[in-house]
Amino acid sequence: MVILVLAAAVAVLLGIVIALSFKLGDRKERVEPATGTPPPVAEHVLPHGPQLDAMRRGIPVDQESTPLPMARVMNVDIKRERAYPMQPPTIPHSIDNYQVSVNTNRCMLCHARHNAANFQAPPVSVTHYMDRDDQFLATISPRRYFCNQCHVVQTDAQPLVANGFIDIDTVLAEGQPVADGAH
Ligand code: HEC
Ligand code: HEC
Repeated sequence: MVILVLAAAVAVLLGIVIALSFKLGDRKERVEPATGTPPPVAEHVLPHGPQLDAMRRGIPVDQESTPLPMARVMNVDIKRERAYPMQPPTIPHSIDNYQVSVNTNRCMLCHARHNAANFQAPPVSVTHYMDRDDQFLATISPRRYFCNQCHVVQTDAQPLVANGFIDIDTVLAEGQPVADGAH
């Protein structure tokens, strides 16, 4: 008999604890941003109403925004078009754990002229061996040592700010004047 009463008491207590934890969970959810779904990215152009920072996607500064999902690296070996001839090409492979430090440059393992063929990688272009006086050095120029300063990995991230850039081939093909604001 006593055991039955005890078991009932334990069951009631358990019920209360479970109910409370649900309540707490509720409260946690209520901390979520009040703004709802943010507008899709890259749809807005600066200036965005009273907002100065387009990276906030039009969400007022006193409101919490829902962060965008992390971008995924496109490790597919497909090169993207360069928007203009001197654009540093984006990196068509992942670079996780490729160390570039004072002692070692992992990128040059494959991209140095003498090793490129072994890895079927494009060797860094001749500009990467030039010093600031346009003299060619035997090894990578210190100005081009930190590859990630200019080259970024390709991801599926959407642009945060709309961009009206038109590349020169399009301009020539359409016979447009270069830009309205240019004259
Ligand atoms: C294991 C060899 C290897 C390493 C290490 C490596 N790459 Fe590559 N990289 C390649 C190969 C191969 C390609 C050709 C495209 C492909 O197969 O992904 C390439 C392509 C590229 C391209 C595109 C070039 C173009 O003409 O579009 C860039 C930029 C690049 N790599 C930069 C880097 C940077 C920066 C690092 C260091 C953080 C690095 N790579 C490390 C092998 C490598
Ligand atoms: C200061 C900016 C800068 C740095 C630093 C830099 N690059 Fe580049 N890279 C460029 C630009 C700009 C181009 C395209 C024009 C050219 O070839 O110079 C380019 C082109 C390339 C290409 C394509 C070559 C071709 O012939 O198409 C590869 C591969 C490359 N870089 C790899 C690297 C690696 C690896 C490093 C680090 C050791 C590096 N870059 C450092 C700016 C840079």
